Amino acid sequence: MAVPAEKLEVLSVHHYTDRLFKFRVTRPRSFRFQSGQFVMIGLEVDGKPLMRAYSMASPAWDEELEFFSIKVPNGPLTSRLQHIKVGDSILMAGRSVGSLVVNSLLPGRRLFLLSTGTGIAPFASIMRDPETYDRFEEVYLTHTCRLVAELAYGKELAEGLKNDPLCSDVASQLTHYTSCTREDYPYRGRITELIENGKLFTDLDIESFNPEFDRVMICGSIPMNKDLKRILEERGFTEGARSRKGEFVIERAFTG
Ligand code: A2P
Repeated sequence: MAVPAEKLEVLSVHHYTDRLFKFRVTRPRSFRFQSGQFVMIGLEVDGKPLMRAYSMASPAWDEELEFFSIKVPNGPLTSRLQHIKVGDSILMAGRSVGSLVVNSLLPGRRLFLLSTGTGIAPFASIMRDPETYDRFEEVYLTHTCRLVAELAYGKELAEGLKNDPLCSDVASQLTHYTSCTREDYPYRGRITELIENGKLFTDLDIESFNPEFDRVMICGSIPMNKDLKRILEERGFTEGARSRKGEFVIERAFTG
């Protein structure tokens, strides 16, 4: 039998663009997750819960929960969710799930978190978790969006890490790389192109992917995930899961 949805109170809402916003809600005391996992959240519509998968954008240690969402004009949930206000409630149902967690990866030296659009959400969790920096010496977060304004959430996160009580000591281990595909910007192009033409590595002044010591997490649209999987497999990386650790893991960024 399905577990009834719990009500969570909205504590803050911030709109970045007409397509993107974040919000924070209360966290039930019994709710556990690993940084990078997702859960079903939603709203009651016509007397029934309308739920979608959302990655927790806050780290596992945080007392509140943060989510980063797209606004789809005709999306059944996000066309409504985008109007939530402080004091409203949203619904959450079921347990946290997902294998986009550092536990799915073999030990390594460098961790690459490759995201597009709202695919940055699970990495917002992983990059604010001190365990990430215990496991990896160097962490590279890449975020590619259509427009410059869509990069704002990631920039705020990377900047915020320096003042984060749990991560300020390790903030220098994180490098944040942003690129834009449909507007003028110092770093132009899809992440797939930037990897294949080597520009990502020359821009960062680091060596190219090596499965011996690099681990990669991917979160974006289905075509982006598919293209990156091919690129990594061509370079000798194998996909991991919670039951069988590997050199890379993939999650679809949820929309709608
Ligand atoms: P592009 O502008 O060239 O389509 P979206 O907002 O549609 O989710 O896209 C987010 C970002 O992901 C955009 O910069 C988009 O580039 C890029 N993107 C879309 N498809 C792919 C793909 N197959 N591989 C890599 N990046 C992609």
